[in-house]
Amino acid sequence: MEVTNVMEYEAIAKQKLPKMVFDYYASGAEDQWTLKENREAFSRILFRPRILIDVSKIDMTTTVLGFKISMPIMIAPTAMQKMAHPDGEYATARAASAANTIMTLSSWATSSVEEVASTGPGIRFFQLYVYKDRNVVAQLVRRAERAGFKAIALTVDTPRLGRREADIKNRFVLPPFLTLKNFEGLDLGKMDKSNDSGLASYVAGQIDRSLSWKDVKWLQTITSMPILVKGVLTAEDARLAVQSGAAGIIVSNHGARQLDYVPATISALEEVVKAAQGRIPVFLDGGVRRGTDVFKALALGASGVFIGRPVVFSLAAEGEAGVRKVLQMLRDEFELTMALSGCTSLKDITRNHIITESDKYRTVSRL
Ligand code: FNR
Repeated sequence: MEVTNVMEYEAIAKQKLPKMVFDYYASGAEDQWTLKENREAFSRILFRPRILIDVSKIDMTTTVLGFKISMPIMIAPTAMQKMAHPDGEYATARAASAANTIMTLSSWATSSVEEVASTGPGIRFFQLYVYKDRNVVAQLVRRAERAGFKAIALTVDTPRLGRREADIKNRFVLPPFLTLKNFEGLDLGKMDKSNDSGLASYVAGQIDRSLSWKDVKWLQTITSMPILVKGVLTAEDARLAVQSGAAGIIVSNHGARQLDYVPATISALEEVVKAAQGRIPVFLDGGVRRGTDVFKALALGASGVFIGRPVVFSLAAEGEAGVRKVLQMLRDEFELTMALSGCTSLKDITRNHIITESDKYRTVSRL
């Protein structure tokens, strides 16, 4: 049957993938309350569309950190994509550049920064996990820069891995025929099986729990790439990110895989945007599955969004063609949303085009 929306790829992936792999991709932490909420919070935001505006031409292009892209929809880092499809990160990189948008490569990719660069031109960011061994980090960042990556997305919500119970039950581990390619030469490319999630044990052994704001500054001394702080959920941390020299913020709860019972990212977005005061751009990921979600995020002040699970699920279903289709469907839906709410370019999208739960308790005096 024809796939008509991004969400349908999840069921197809579930049929195709080994249970251990599907569960790793799909799961959230603990009760998975935030996982559900990442979607439900979008559904509580409604539109205030404007009518009788000429929408015969719609421009979705935008600029992210100075790079022009075709739409404000980009690809979030998701680890170990070759578990989904043999082409893994190669397919994702090709689909992203065909759509003229940005791909973020995970530190824990099953293809290296050099391999992904070899797929051809494209604007790519590198997601960084900071290892205890800072020489490993410095080497990796240098390699990403040399391979033409344009920015670092520094993940700051993972001093330890969140408790994903399916991974614990399945004793999740990277299949032995695959490697965390960026770490192959550093003897950190394999994951041992453990009595827990193998990934949780790997993180406990290798990732630096002492990471702090001073390290955001340190990172700027070892690279000239701009740094996006990925995993901000509060105004307090948005202000600290600005002070620490970050080039941007990604409002993210790691796809609800870290701390459960944090708010949906779309609920946290507005306070972060206000605190950033327009000094640096704010992006969002988490639960974006519809063009209407993209519009809502932009109306609340995001400069763009990133998608995670739809990429791995569509990759599992149809490889590169699946990821292309996901990007195309979101693009088409977003364009339609703009048309039906009377916006012809991204700057036309305003706070007044939506109404949130919190607005309902306030008077409508702002109108
Ligand atoms: C992730 N995410 C993630 N984030 C990160 O910084 N480094 C990583 O290696 C990974 N790996 C990863 C694997 C899988 C399977 C998932 C689902 C997620 C988090 C990711 O970048 C992003 O924050 C969320 O996926 C966004 O939410 P949605 O779109 O999946 O709902």
